[in-house]
This record gives sequence, structure tokens and C-alpha cells, in this order.
Amino acid sequence: MLLPPSQRTKLDDSDDALFYAQPRFVTHVDEGFINQLTELYRQQLQPQSRIFDMMSSWVSHLPEEMEFTHVEGHGLNEAELAKNPRLTHYFVQNLNQHKQLPLPDEDFDAVINCVSVQYLQDPETIFREIHRILKPEGIAIFSFSNRMFHQKAIAAWRDSPERDRLELVKTYFQAIPGFGEPEAIVKRSNGLQQWLGAGDPFYAVLARKK
Ligand SMILES: C[S@@+](CC[C@H](N)C(=O)[O-])C[C@H]1O[C@@H](n2cnc3c(N)ncnc32)[C@H](O)[C@@H]1O
Repeated sequence: MLLPPSQRTKLDDSDDALFYAQPRFVTHVDEGFINQLTELYRQQLQPQSRIFDMMSSWVSHLPEEMEFTHVEGHGLNEAELAKNPRLTHYFVQNLNQHKQLPLPDEDFDAVINCVSVQYLQDPETIFREIHRILKPEGIAIFSFSNRMFHQKAIAAWRDSPERDRLELVKTYFQAIPGFGEPEAIVKRSNGLQQWLGAGDPFYAVLARKK
């Protein structure tokens, strides 16, 4: 087993849907982080492809100039997803309770997940599902910083130093044999905050389906 049960616990173990019941029309990371992420998407995603933005909100951080055939959205707050201009379609589902994605096999070119992986309590099952819905050579991109809703992050994340979290997400990919070797990216913030020495650090782990 990838994580012992104690490492999957949350300080607030009430239904996640309650925590996300009210919409938050905010950005969870700073402009420098978002610029890094949008640039990574610009490099890694193909125009006119099919994207699954999992654990999404009212923003997807996709490059404005890129058009996609379909952007499927998912999250826990319907009002946020309804406001997201990039989504072609969306659904609401608690991935800690219902772990099978209502999406067909090999239907997506890319799966993206921004600042949310720390909330998954059964990452093996979810990463197996991501693998199932990706086309061969399809890519999954997980990005995160050092901010989180502390009470909702799993113990393995909460209690580990920042840098170790890259390794943790790598192990999620490595637990599924059909993924290629994951690549980790670490960057300092490139926004104004960098000059003040206080920008959100940028981390991403990406891997392709073999
Ligand atoms: C910090 S927000 C990030 C939202 C979005 N990716 C962004 O960049 O703005 C975390 C998101 O994870 C989603 N989430 C948290 N716990 C979840 C769960 N158990 N099942 C499904 N989604 C969950 C929520 O919908 C929430 O929008």
C-alpha cells in the first residue's frame, strides 16, 4: 500500500462537500505561480485537444490564446464551475467518496490538476482512473505550491517538508505501471512578489501514459 491509513487522514474529516459548499471566487496562488503554470500548459498542451481539468474552480489557468476541442471540468462547488469560461461541460463529485470518474476510457489528451492533489485520500485509485481516461501518450500535469487548506490536506502532505511533496506525487504516478517516468519541475515565483522575496514557489509533476 502506498500510504498507511494514518497518512490519509485529515484534521477535518467531515464531508469535503461541506467545506466547499460556499463558492470562493479567489485565486489560491499568486500571479507569478499562475504565469508559470500557464506557460507550462502552453508548452505541454496541444491546441484542439481534449482536456480534463480535475478539482477545478472558476479559473483553469489555460493559455487564453489556445483553443481546445473540449475542456471537461470537475470540482466540488457548482457555482465556481458554472462561472469558469473555459469549461465545455462539468460535473460535481467528491473524489474521496466516489472514486470512479464518469468519463470514458482513453478519451482525453491531458489531465490537469492545480493546487488540489493534497486533498486526495486515495491517490492510487484516482491516478488509476486518470490513466484509464487518458489516450496513449496523453499527459497528466499536477501543480502545487506551499499553501493549502491545512485542515483538509492529508497527513502525508501536511506533515512533510515542502520539497518531499514532489517525491510524494511522483510515487502516485509510479504506483500505476502504465505511466512513464514522472518529471518534476521546481521554479521560484516569476512575478512581482519574487522581487519582494515572498512569491509562491511553483512545483509540478507531470507524466505521460505509455
Ligand atoms: C484550492 S482549490 C483549487 C481549485 C482550482 N484547481 C484552482 O486552481 O483554482 C481546491 C479544489 O479541490 C477540489 N476538491 C477538494 N476536495 C475534493 C474532493 N474530495 N473531491 C473533489 N474535489 C475536491 C475543490 O473543488 C476545490 O475547488
